[in-house]
Amino acid sequence: MRKGKSTITLANVTKRFGDFEAVSDVTLAVEPGQVVGFVGPNGAGKTTTISMMMGFLKPSKGTVTVLGTNIEPQTSHSVHGSIGYVAGDMVLPGALSGRQFLAFSAARNGRIDERFNSLVDKLQPVLHKPLKQLSRGNKQKIALIAALQHAPTVLILDEPTSGLDPLMQDVFLDTVKDESKRGTTVFMSSHILSEVSSVCDRIVFMRAGKFILDKPVRELTSQLGKHIVIKGHDVGKLAKFLPDSAKLLYKNANEIRLSIPSANIKTFMRWIVTKEFDDILIEDRDLDDVFHELYGGKTK
Ligand SMILES: Nc1ncnc2c1ncn2[C@@H]1O[C@H](COP(=O)(O)OP(=O)(O)O)[C@@H](O)[C@H]1O
Ligand SMILES: [Mg+2]
Repeated sequence: MRKGKSTITLANVTKRFGDFEAVSDVTLAVEPGQVVGFVGPNGAGKTTTISMMMGFLKPSKGTVTVLGTNIEPQTSHSVHGSIGYVAGDMVLPGALSGRQFLAFSAARNGRIDERFNSLVDKLQPVLHKPLKQLSRGNKQKIALIAALQHAPTVLILDEPTSGLDPLMQDVFLDTVKDESKRGTTVFMSSHILSEVSSVCDRIVFMRAGKFILDKPVRELTSQLGKHIVIKGHDVGKLAKFLPDSAKLLYKNANEIRLSIPSANIKTFMRWIVTKEFDDILIEDRDLDDVFHELYGGKTK
C-alpha cells in the first residue's frame, strides 16, 4: 500500500555502531521518477544509508519507507519485488552460470521476457560460464540483468561501477539512463561526482554521516561560474585587490587562481585589463571543482 507519494523516504535516520555514529539524523524524500546521485567520499556513510533502505540494517533511530512500505530489517517485504539492487561489492554464487543465476533471480522476483531479451542484446553478457570464471565487469552485467529483468519501479545502486573499466562503466550508465527514461526511480551512490552527474537530475552529498547538500544538478551547474588562472611576475599581490564577487582559490608569488560567478565576468575583465600579467586562462568550472571545494580537497 502506498501511503505517501514519495518513492523513498528517510525520516530523521541515525545509525550507530557502538559509540560511532555512521549516519546522523538524515532526512530525505526521493520523488517518483527522480534519478538521485548519492555522492560522498569513502566512509561518508553511503553504504550504511543504502543498507537501511534495503532493510539489511536497522536504524538506531528514525524510519525508512520504500514505495510507502515501512522497511523493517531482515523482513521479506513484497516491496522488494519492486526494487532492483546492485552493489559494487556484491558476491554472486560462483558455481552457478550466468543463465542459472538469472533463472534463480527470476524465480524470486519474476521476469519479463521482452526485457530480459533486450537487456541481453544490449549488454551481451557471458551466460554459459560459471560466475566465478567471469571478469568483474562481466559479473556486474549479470548482477544488473538480475536487478532489471523484472522491470522494477525503483533501482538502488551502491557504487555499482567501482572497479569497472571505462568502457564497462559507460555500458552500465547507459543502461541506467534507459531505465530512467522508462520512469524508474533511481538512487545511486558513487564517490565520483562526474560519473553520477551525467545520469542524475539531483545530487545528495554525504560527508561524515550527514547530508551536506541536496540540490538539482541543473541548479548546481548554473552556479558553477568560471575558473580563472592568472600567471605573471608578482601577480600574487593582486589577490588582495580582487573584485568582491571573486573567490580566491590559490595563490603564490607568480600565480593566482580564483572562481567567479558567470554574471560577474565582465566586471572582472574590466578590472584585469588594467593589471600586469603574462598569461590568463578562463574556463567553465565543472561539478568536480565544486565537490573539491565542499570536501576541502580531502578526497584526492
Ligand atoms: N558494521 C560496522 N561496524 C562498525 N563500523 C561500521 C560498520 N559499517 C560501517 N562502519 C563505519 O561507518 C562509516 C561509514 O561506512 P560506509 O557506510 O560503508 O561508508 P561509504 O559507503 O560512504 O564508504 C565508516 O567509518 C565505516 O568504517
Ligand atoms: Mg560504500
